[in-house]
Amino acid sequence: MAKVTGLEGVVAAETDIGLVDGERGHLIYRGYWAKDVAVHFSFEEAAHLLWYGELPDEGELFRLKERLQAYRELPASLPPLLDAMPKSLPTMSVLQAAVASLTEPDGTPAAWPPAPSQAERLTALLPAIIAYRYRRSKGLDPVQPHPELDHAANYLYMLTGTIPEPAHAKALTAYLILGMEHGMNASTFSARVTSSTQSDMYAAVSAAIGTMKGPLHGGAPSEVIAMLEDIGTVERAEGWLRAVLEQGGRLMGFGHRIYKTKDPRAEALRTVTEKLTGDTDSFKLALHVEQTAIRLLEEYKPGRRLYTNVEFFAAAIMSAIQLPAELFTPTFTAARTVGWTAHVLEQAGVNRIFRPQSVYTGPMPTLGD
Ligand code: ACO
Repeated sequence: MAKVTGLEGVVAAETDIGLVDGERGHLIYRGYWAKDVAVHFSFEEAAHLLWYGELPDEGELFRLKERLQAYRELPASLPPLLDAMPKSLPTMSVLQAAVASLTEPDGTPAAWPPAPSQAERLTALLPAIIAYRYRRSKGLDPVQPHPELDHAANYLYMLTGTIPEPAHAKALTAYLILGMEHGMNASTFSARVTSSTQSDMYAAVSAAIGTMKGPLHGGAPSEVIAMLEDIGTVERAEGWLRAVLEQGGRLMGFGHRIYKTKDPRAEALRTVTEKLTGDTDSFKLALHVEQTAIRLLEEYKPGRRLYTNVEFFAAAIMSAIQLPAELFTPTFTAARTVGWTAHVLEQAGVNRIFRPQSVYTGPMPTLGD
């Protein structure tokens, strides 16, 4: 019997939220190409599409922005909790604990079933928590959200205290939208599993954050930057990449369980990165590393169809807008919160507890006479 690992190919749920077609390289959000949503719509419009199934009209968009603005304010319980956590704790662990600690705004414990207002609140809160913790860890005063700025711009503003360049906010918006949703990925599955036990929305998202933390899922972009920095120059690329593959190592930012062709998010983000940094040495190096790595992966892993994944150019964008590398995975988390919460809301409508089986391969007790 073949080894049972990784649930590959197993269908865990039906969903109206997103389609990932790994053979054709398609990513669809509720009937729209994700790459088009990322370029033509705002973060708030894309989130509305995923949560409510349609793009908002003008009034709905205005009201959603107002609610997100109100939700950005940290509840009184969070600053002392965030300050009490050890400085050495990774931001992902801080986020997981902070989200798990949330009650409803009036202090009552959260309960099942999940509500759209919780999805909106978590989405608004995550960047505010990340920014608070980041600034405090650097000995800086927290920056309150700006009443006039949209979601992505507000995130950069709360981190830096400066109104960001529109091109930076636009590039970050494209990244956040492309990171929002990706079918039954490991962290979304985690969120749905937790919610299927009738646990509350905050517990489900906290579980998803724990899953996202691992380097095989959300932890890759900072490793991509470390790789590009270590390679340093175009001339060093091939030798560096070959050395990793010779030792049986993995190239971060390449390969995907589902995509066996180009990851459409990587393609879209390459265009966004090029607009932002097209004539810089760092972009030229990234392009060279991409092309060399794909050629070498075909040489060392023939037939595995390993291409650039979303994390590769995500790293390039985040570095171009000067987001510190330690915030790459948290920022991806802030984006994916939209997808997680959309899935948790969907799960509640069709809920049955997830309970797969395992095949026992251990020893059997010795039977007595
Ligand atoms: N570098 C080198 N070899 C690789 C890579 C890589 N990046 N990815 C897969 N392979 C090889 C494996 O060694 C394996 O080779 P083998 O058949 O000789 O044993 C083969 O390709 C298949 O790999 P699996 O691990 O079975 O593929 P899986 O679908 O389980 O893994 C994953 C997908 C985890 C993304 C993998 O490609 C990887 O580790 N990539 C690097 C980390 C990364 O970029 N993660 C971000 C993913 S995107 C996201 O989560 C949003």
